[in-house]
Amino acid sequence: MDPLRSTDPEIADLIEKETRRQSAVLRMIPSENYASDAVLAASGSILCNKYSEGYPAKRYYQGQENIDEIERLATTRAKDLFGAEHANVQPYSGSPANMAVYLGLLGKGGRVLGMDLAAGGHLTHGAKASFSGLFYEVAAYGLSRESGRIDYAQARRLAKEFKPQMIFCGASSYPRVVDFAAFAEIAAEVGARLVADISHISGLCFTGQHPAPFPHVDVVTTTTHKLLRGPRGGMILCRQELAAAIDKAVFPGLQGGPHNQTTAAIAVALKEAASPDYREYCRRVVENSKALAEGLLSRGLTLVTGGTDNHLALIDAGAAGLTGKALASGLERAGIVANANKIPFDPRPAHDPSGLRLGTPALTSRGMGVAEMDLVAGLVHQTAVNLEDHAALDNIRQLVAELCLDFPAPGITPCEC
Ligand SMILES: Cc1ncc(COP(=O)(O)O)c(C=O)c1O
Repeated sequence: MDPLRSTDPEIADLIEKETRRQSAVLRMIPSENYASDAVLAASGSILCNKYSEGYPAKRYYQGQENIDEIERLATTRAKDLFGAEHANVQPYSGSPANMAVYLGLLGKGGRVLGMDLAAGGHLTHGAKASFSGLFYEVAAYGLSRESGRIDYAQARRLAKEFKPQMIFCGASSYPRVVDFAAFAEIAAEVGARLVADISHISGLCFTGQHPAPFPHVDVVTTTTHKLLRGPRGGMILCRQELAAAIDKAVFPGLQGGPHNQTTAAIAVALKEAASPDYREYCRRVVENSKALAEGLLSRGLTLVTGGTDNHLALIDAGAAGLTGKALASGLERAGIVANANKIPFDPRPAHDPSGLRLGTPALTSRGMGVAEMDLVAGLVHQTAVNLEDHAALDNIRQLVAELCLDFPAPGITPCEC
């Protein structure tokens, strides 16, 4: 019998139900994906049994010959893929990776310019509710009211006034290309370190879909579980001159022992990401996202910036007389899982905003293409115009279930669903 089921049937049941859910719905939260069987195998391995505080050849416990090799493989693959001089693969996730950058580059306090949370930045880029806004002096740049794109002139003006020691670029809900070279000019003008958080778009940056952050930036942070299709984790890549400060900030500054099973799974994901298949996958993620955007626009929905350059589109639900939350919950009933999100200059509060984010990474991992994106855009539109009609939403859910059967989810074998 399955050891998990015999020890803990409640947890086994819930994992089985979640497996079925991940298989039977269209997962369109842009930060989610499907990890491969190989990544899942490493992530659920006996490596979780080992303590390894420190770094390869500089550990505080014995018995590290295999763990050292695993971490060396992960860091080498990360450096090769991102064109970085140094990599630290130990951060427990994206937020701890960013926290380590604050600690490593600034210490206990300092001035930071980041993208406004309301404009699409991440909590850790200086939001008041996070450590970044609590422990550091922050200023925030945003978007142009006319174009919905990053207002580089405002960022430059703020940088000159505020004189930050560190500038964060990169976003959580921005559908366009981030101009790392433009940020590098601004950072150089005021003598600030430049950090690019490419958690959402990491794959696009090393497969040629978007510009690469190096050599423009000093530090790159990324999660490993979004477009990268790895386990839940984080990485920091940086110039060699910053390596010691970053490593010291991760351990012993913020963390204890690394999660070795995650390090191994990151190494596997990086090996997969270096393949021609992954390059093609990233090309198709963007192609699908553009097809989805066109499908939504052609059916009368409004998108922030009028389209997309990356893996996500941001619908202005308010323009259709809806709220983002109402649309997200109607879509969930219809089998399409997305998240409500603020739009630029949103008049509504963060817990009930006007927008909705739709991403293509997970659907593309299932093998869907532009024809399916048009179909999905039609289903999203049908949901938006039938939000109160539960029978109509249940019909859409049936169509979604049929589509999902045609495109099995990676890492989920048929017998599990
Ligand atoms: C740009 C960006 N940075 C950092 C994070 C934080 O990652 P985690 O949730 O793994 O802490 C996110 C999460 O969505 C993100 O979008």
